[in-house]
Amino acid sequence: AGSARDLVEKLCAPVPDFPLPGIIFRDLTPVFADAAAFRTVIDALIEPFQGTFDVVAGIEARGFLLAAAVGYAAGTGVVTVRKAGKLPRAVHSEAYDLEYGQATLEIHRDAVTPGTRVLLLDDVLATGGTLAAAARLFERGDAEVVGCGVVLELEALAGRGLLPGRRVHALSTL
Ligand code: PRP
Ligand code: MG
Repeated sequence: AGSARDLVEKLCAPVPDFPLPGIIFRDLTPVFADAAAFRTVIDALIEPFQGTFDVVAGIEARGFLLAAAVGYAAGTGVVTVRKAGKLPRAVHSEAYDLEYGQATLEIHRDAVTPGTRVLLLDDVLATGGTLAAAARLFERGDAEVVGCGVVLELEALAGRGLLPGRRVHALSTL
C-alpha cells in the first residue's frame, strides 16, 4: 500500500525535453497503469469532495481517465470538457494559454443545468490555464464549481494564481 503521494512520487517518470527542449514532462501513465496506485489515486481525489458534487468533469485527454473512474466510484455522472471542435451540439468555448502553446476547451451548453455542483478533474496543474478555462465554461452555464482535483501540481508554475478563491486539491506536488 502507500499514500497517493508516495505512489505518485514512486511511479511518475520525468521525461526531459518533451514535448519541447527544456520542458521536463511528468508522465503519469505508470501511475494509472498500476492497479493499487490507480485505485488509491481515484479514492484520494474523491475524499476531500465526497458528497459535495453532482457531476464530475474530466478535461481532455488525461482528465477523462480520472473523471470516469471517479464518477463510477462516487455514483455521479461524468461530463467531458473537450478540445475545440469535438462536440456535436451547441457549446460554450473558452480559449486559454498553455505552458506551451494555446488552445480552446468546450462543453455542451446543456451538459449541466444551473446550480449543478461540478468537480473538475485533471491529471496535472501546471500554469492553471486549463482548469481556469474549464471552470469558466461551467460558470457560463450557471453551474457551481465546487473544486478542482489533480494528481500532480507543478508548484513552480504557480497555477493556483489563475484559480483564486477555488478549492484546489493536489494529491502530490513537485
Ligand atoms: C496537460 C495536462 C493538463 C494541462 C495542464 O494537458 O494534462 O491538462 O496540460 O497545463 P496548464 O495548467 O498549464 O494549463 P495537455 O493540454 O497537454 O493535453 P492532453 O491532456 O490532451 O495531453
Ligand atoms: Mg491535459
